[in-house]
Amino acid sequence: MAERVQYERFGGPEVLEIVQVETPTAPEGGVLVSVKAAGVNPIDGKIRSALRPSGPITGPRGLGSDAAGVIVEVGEGASGWEAGDEVVVRGAHGAYATHLTASTDQLVRKPAGVTWEQAAAIGVPVSTAYQALRSLGVEGGMTLLIHGGSGSVGRAAIQFAVRDGATVVVTASEGNHDALLALGAVPVAYGRGVVGRLRLAAPQGYDRVLDAIGTDEALDASFELVEDRSHIGTIVMGARAAELGILAWAGGNPVPLTPQEQAWRDEAYPVVLGLIERGEFTVEIARTFPLSQAADAQRLVESGHPGGKVILLP
Ligand SMILES: NC(=O)c1ccc[n+]([C@@H]2O[C@H](COP(=O)([O-])OP(=O)(O)OC[C@H]3O[C@@H](n4cnc5c(N)ncnc54)[C@H](OP(=O)(O)O)[C@@H]3O)[C@@H](O)[C@H]2O)c1
Repeated sequence: MAERVQYERFGGPEVLEIVQVETPTAPEGGVLVSVKAAGVNPIDGKIRSALRPSGPITGPRGLGSDAAGVIVEVGEGASGWEAGDEVVVRGAHGAYATHLTASTDQLVRKPAGVTWEQAAAIGVPVSTAYQALRSLGVEGGMTLLIHGGSGSVGRAAIQFAVRDGATVVVTASEGNHDALLALGAVPVAYGRGVVGRLRLAAPQGYDRVLDAIGTDEALDASFELVEDRSHIGTIVMGARAAELGILAWAGGNPVPLTPQEQAWRDEAYPVVLGLIERGEFTVEIARTFPLSQAADAQRLVESGHPGGKVILLP
């Protein structure tokens, strides 16, 4: 038997239940993965609570799109993989589970030097950060502002931008400032007076902005600091991007990712796994929970201040 977390109605974290199900079998052209760790993302709770449209619930619905684990069965016609291979699953369907089926094009090999928690933490946040910086055209010599610098997306974006030679200023709660300084960013407290503090932090001005929080304060500050709105991108306020004249990638944007943007997201996986293995990229794990406490894991993420990545360990 396998276990999975599911829900049958939209609502708060309390709608989640853990159930026993028949262990799935590897599909044709795909594999069965024994999940070792699953990442909890803000989008999981937004879909669960119907904050993001996802269509009607027609039966028990699993959740979670970031998983890492071991292949336990290979389906007919699935070449290049075998039982025992350690993998990261991209765009998983129902990662909050002990077992998961996936097609081979969703698989990325996990290097031995990367932990299960790290492997499950990178998917949505790290690939988004990687793609957003490329879409914004961030490069060496530029000054980048990131709203929400202490989030999982923000921490990844800091590291990529610093590697590219950019100066990075981020907004975050003061309790997170030391950790963000260590990543190479200049942290600034958000809240009243943030524009003045951001000007002081970068008298040379800002070339690009990545909004990873979506508050009115973050958007207003961006408009005061950067004139050209095509240099401002959001991953949260996609629904308002066209009206505001800013860039947006998913996050409620009715315009889907372009093939290039999707390709950058896919490219991020092997790149960052290699960096983590070489000790050149860090992933902050805030807390791990057993599968049975998925609701508490989501509550921590929905607090808005998880302090790093929240991971389920089936
Ligand atoms: N469009 C996409 O494809 C895409 C992909 C990934 C994520 N997202 C979205 O991007 C957002 C961030 O995701 P994440 O995984 O990085 O989240 P996360 O790890 O849960 O981090 C959230 C961060 O928000 C910060 N924050 C809370 N209130 C704030 C405020 N009033 N002003 C500024 N910052 C504030 C917190 O910073 P402090 O604790 O320092 O206060 C925290 O670090 C979420 O809304 C998520 O759904 C979109």
